[in-house]
Amino acid sequence: MKDRRILVTGGAGFIGSNFVHTILESTENVSIIVVDKLTYAGNLKNLDKWKNDSRLQFIKLDITDKTEVFSKLENIPVTEIAHFAAESHVDRSILGPEEFVKTNLMGSFYMLEFARMLHAQNKLRLFLHVSTDEVFGSLSAEGAFTETTPYAPNSPYSASKAGSDHLVRAYFHTYGLPVITTNCSNNYGPFHFPEKLIPLMILNCLQGKSLPVYGTGENVRDWLYVKDHCLAIDLVMRTGKFGETYNIGTRNEKNNLEIVYKICELMDERNPKGAPHKKLIQFVKDRPGHDFRYAIDPAKIENELGWKPKYKFEEAIEQTVDWFLANRSWWEEILSGEYNKYYDSQYKELKDK
Ligand code: NAD
Ligand code: DAU
Repeated sequence: MKDRRILVTGGAGFIGSNFVHTILESTENVSIIVVDKLTYAGNLKNLDKWKNDSRLQFIKLDITDKTEVFSKLENIPVTEIAHFAAESHVDRSILGPEEFVKTNLMGSFYMLEFARMLHAQNKLRLFLHVSTDEVFGSLSAEGAFTETTPYAPNSPYSASKAGSDHLVRAYFHTYGLPVITTNCSNNYGPFHFPEKLIPLMILNCLQGKSLPVYGTGENVRDWLYVKDHCLAIDLVMRTGKFGETYNIGTRNEKNNLEIVYKICELMDERNPKGAPHKKLIQFVKDRPGHDFRYAIDPAKIENELGWKPKYKFEEAIEQTVDWFLANRSWWEEILSGEYNKYYDSQYKELKDK
């Protein structure tokens, strides 16, 4: 593919920034335009490695502001859009759903409108929409989500993502916009914002703080290393079929307690003074409407696009723990800012050691 110019919304967030790394590390002839509002979850430090690289451009922009979207982007040549920007944390969507509806639904709508304009001018090759397996709702002990599983979102977050997926589909059928949607499972890896399960547990172990496990800890998630996810998105963008959706996952189901135990075990090796870290586990009030189990069937992307994950969970979780140990200043800056207030309100029942 020649002269790729990829506009990456949410490129300063967790997955978006990893995607920028994946593309810039593997592709010489490419330009990336990151657009991001830099909410609490957006961080330009995630892109520090490329700050002097002429292939990367950053534009601060709120996708919920239609005027801003069109005026700031109208003169930027773009051949593909990879749409990651969203409010992404389920617990925050329960505390305050409005931002989720604004960004995930209206923001996606404005990005689609912008894409429609580019497509009408024959400039746009693809609109790639990054979505989640949570749109399919909750599974019991058996089965896995496929691309034809009916939508049944249960949280304000997943409902707002489901709405955006439907808009993307409608723009393909109504306007012929070249779209593809990917629905993936829970990511983990470098630059993961500390509010999410895996980084929260690593950082609390390091600080000798309680490890809050919701309910019984038996809820199951299907963990996907972010670098595998980004390689899969890259493959979908190059070889996927317009109008299709692809599920992305690595058949790696674990219940929450298994994850917390694994992190404690790795921390015992790396921080023997704090061992056993398991003693920090505290069971706390369950998340309202907590989905029991997610599991992705990735057969379609494997069979149709030849996708295979590169990383094994055992090595990737170690690399993740080691990344947080090696990047102390990255997370210390986050923990010492606004995030503190959220953490305290969320976990006020815990008495940290
Ligand atoms: P994140 O919260 O780490 O990052 C989101 C980014 O979007 C941030 O940089 C933020 O500043 C930006 N943003 C938010 N509102 C914006 C707005 N109005 N205008 C412009 N930028 C805005 O999220 P993430 O975990 O990297 O998730 C990225 C995408 O992947 C989301 O669409 C999410 O729904 C989806 N997803 C995430 C996971 C996961 O496990 N993290 C799994 C499945 C799907
Ligand atoms: O499945 C994909 C989704 O995964 C993405 O669409 C979301 O953007 C992403 O945030 C993630 O959602 P989850 O709600 O599954 O992730 P979270 O890390 O918040 O929680 C994972 C599990 O751990 C869930 O069952 C709730 C539980 N949990 C979470 C936290 C933060 C705890 O037990 N304790 C905690 O402190």
